[in-house]
Amino acid sequence: MDEHRKEITISIKNEAEKRIVITYKNEYRNLMQLLNNNFYLEGFGECGGMGRCVTCLVRINGLEGLSNLLERNEKVTLGKMGLADSDLRLSCQVLITDDLNNAMIDIVAENY
Ligand code: FES
Repeated sequence: MDEHRKEITISIKNEAEKRIVITYKNEYRNLMQLLNNNFYLEGFGECGGMGRCVTCLVRINGLEGLSNLLERNEKVTLGKMGLADSDLRLSCQVLITDDLNNAMIDIVAENY
């Protein structure tokens, strides 16, 4: 099977709604785009993926070493907001890769 067409299965929870999304590596520009396309979230990702607004905040469960993947902007922005939990990520800074296969994601942008 073509490596780029290998399925990546992600469980996503948005408040009471749970959904399983099956995607492929680089099908979306980033996790924020995948979430916006599947949930139509108002006010989600206001800075357009610059890693500055925190409106695209998610909690990613079920993956080890997530904090090692923090991008520079993301680390600075989360630090300014006092969000030190290693499961919290800015979805605009998360690429769709095999690392996300079987991940469980909570959309928390409106709830932090
Ligand atoms: S879209 Fe603004 S921080 Fe992700």
